[in-house]
Amino acid sequence: MKKLYIETLGCAMNVRDSEHIIAELTQKEGYTLTDELKEADLILINTCSVREKPVHKLFSEIGYFNKVKKPEAKIGVCGCTASHLGEEIIKKAPYVSFVLGARNVSKITQVIHKDKAVEVDIDYDESTYAFSDFRSSPYKAFINISIGCDKKCTFCIVPSTRGEEISIPPELIIQEVEKAVRSGAKEIFLLGQNVNNYGRRFSDHDRKIDFTDLLKMVSEVEGVERIRFTSPHPLHMDDKFLHEFATNPKICKSMHMPLQSGSTAVLRRMKRGYTKEWFLDRAMKLREMVPDVHISTDIIVGFPGESDKDFEDTIDVVQKVRFEQIFSFKYSPRPLTPAKDYEDQVPDAVASARLSRLQELHLSMLDEISAKEKGKIYTVYFEELKPGGYVAGRTDNNWIVKVRGSEELLGRFVDVKITKPGRLGLEGEVLA
Ligand code: 5AD
Ligand code: SF4
Repeated sequence: MKKLYIETLGCAMNVRDSEHIIAELTQKEGYTLTDELKEADLILINTCSVREKPVHKLFSEIGYFNKVKKPEAKIGVCGCTASHLGEEIIKKAPYVSFVLGARNVSKITQVIHKDKAVEVDIDYDESTYAFSDFRSSPYKAFINISIGCDKKCTFCIVPSTRGEEISIPPELIIQEVEKAVRSGAKEIFLLGQNVNNYGRRFSDHDRKIDFTDLLKMVSEVEGVERIRFTSPHPLHMDDKFLHEFATNPKICKSMHMPLQSGSTAVLRRMKRGYTKEWFLDRAMKLREMVPDVHISTDIIVGFPGESDKDFEDTIDVVQKVRFEQIFSFKYSPRPLTPAKDYEDQVPDAVASARLSRLQELHLSMLDEISAKEKGKIYTVYFEELKPGGYVAGRTDNNWIVKVRGSEELLGRFVDVKITKPGRLGLEGEVLA
């Protein structure tokens, strides 16, 4: 029996790509998964290139793999860094057997049989490729609805690693949803770089369908209890979409709204396509329509040219929207992006100070936000055993809740009263 060790970095898209890779290798090539590097016959790392740090770490990591692996074991580098560095990876690390880009996942069964294969074509069309099944969780299913990204955000390397956006035909998505439900998943997680741009381009023939229509179709599949999706773009949050989000009971009331910056001037230089006012309008409308909604966001500090005043605009939006979760990053200049050549790069010390201020502000808000959860009753979908005799799951609006309990709670929707709020999650008691 051949053994596969796989490490996954980066976003949910990468998690799903790894699931596809595992499915292909276990079902077509006879591999089984292992957590033991030393036992593996094939070692894969599914990489992220969105910031510089993980790219640096890649080479020390594969160097380590090379030291401890069985002599005949192969190492493959997959994902976004594979796309953007391509052959360079093998030049720098000649012990790597193949490089497989983020847009070429379906070629995994070919590249493992070739020596020094480099498959990184970003025009390759995988939008109708039927993958075998593998899901890392029996309770929820990640399902891709599009590949690539058509936006041109000036900080972002993704359009160069995942290529142009192509929507996956709705028939195939629904087929995947039905399959997932049949195998026991009650939650469907729709994935795309820009989900609410769905339907703009298909690789076969055009169809008149947008993301809101797709959400309706998915929610009509029998057995689907919860729908989540990531990532939507604030620009495409039209009234039709917000209305469906607010009124469809199967759509979980948690929205990711990547702000990036609260300054309209910075947003313009980022080519985000919206203003501070538009973002605030959408977020406030969402809070009004769905009182319990959770809003999460991504924020970049220290984008080239960001002044103190620009940063104050970001703080202002954070104070007004009171995000339940913020993923915040220092701007990292990336190859193949326009912003890396912009003048006025912000000194690292300034960016670090802004990042700390933003994170401290958010932590203090989070204490206030989570304190209000005490005593509330939520339906929790339990998914995971935790150390110390706990089971954890999520509420519809995406709080992670743990309770004392065991396996019998897994895969069930159970009412829970919140007893102990915390920054990272809530603790509660199952109601009889
Ligand atoms: N520097 C810092 N953060 C970045 N992101 C994307 N590109 C960069 C970059 N060059 C962040 C954005 C995006 C998230 C996935 O990563 O906030 O939404
Ligand atoms: Fe995901 Fe972007 Fe990282 Fe690629 S670069 S893995 S798309 S976050």
